[in-house]
Amino acid sequence: MILLDGYKVANERNLELKKKIDEHKKIGDRIPELAIILIGNNPASISYVTGKGKACELVGIKHTLHRLDETISQKEVEKLIFDLNENPEVDGILLQLPIPKHLDDSYLIDLISKDKDADGFHVINQGYLYQKKKTIYPATPKGIMTLLKTYDIQIAGANAVVIGRSNIVGFPVARLLMDAGATITVCHRQTKDLASHTLQADIIIASAGQPELLTKDMVKQGAVVVDVGVNRVNGKLVGDVHFDGVKEVAGYLSPVPRGVGPMTINGLLENTYELYLDHLGK
Ligand code: GUN
Repeated sequence: MILLDGYKVANERNLELKKKIDEHKKIGDRIPELAIILIGNNPASISYVTGKGKACELVGIKHTLHRLDETISQKEVEKLIFDLNENPEVDGILLQLPIPKHLDDSYLIDLISKDKDADGFHVINQGYLYQKKKTIYPATPKGIMTLLKTYDIQIAGANAVVIGRSNIVGFPVARLLMDAGATITVCHRQTKDLASHTLQADIIIASAGQPELLTKDMVKQGAVVVDVGVNRVNGKLVGDVHFDGVKEVAGYLSPVPRGVGPMTINGLLENTYELYLDHLGK
């Protein structure tokens, strides 16, 4: 089994990005900037946002964290997004999800300017993706595709099974894999016999949010398995794949942690840089 080492690939790509940003600084361009909005005190969100902030610092992207109270009103969040949309220093805006239930996440995401949508979640950017037009891709699907390409995984002609149908991961990654020539099956909670699908798969993307859902008996010999799960079980981080079992049959397997997570952050940084170039007109 070959480990899909997202940590290593992301570090290498982040270093390349840092060099590009350093070049901009040398010639006097302004510094790229990402605004991060975090509402409430969800421990996982705080940890994600901290990781994203540190990664920004590493590559030379300025980041500003807007920490808002759990009880903030919809109007106040709207006002902040309007201000950030108008601010010419800000290249990317990220609203960390989930947000408290009294707020309308879908409405707020679409309020972010599509030209500052670092997450690629805006309805227009998702529309571009589904129409195969150039756009900002959601960071996790982007990171997964980069990881597969870095390891020269054959996607064209492959049978790919995506477990999970979210707007953040499952649906967009299925679209990107299909565009790269794979035949796609999207499985989800209502799928009757999950193993009957996964056993046919050359590539499996496990993004169901269920700890160790994918076990050894569900994987074809030599398959490529990408684990998107981030589940905390008894204080430990586990993926959607039973790593110790699946590693015995998979040809390639991404670990949790240090697999898709760092690739997602790299995707976010690269998205922010793309938006920055657009704003500079370069
Ligand atoms: N919550 C879980 N994953 C993500 C992500 O990729 N972006 C944002 N903004 N929130 C998330």
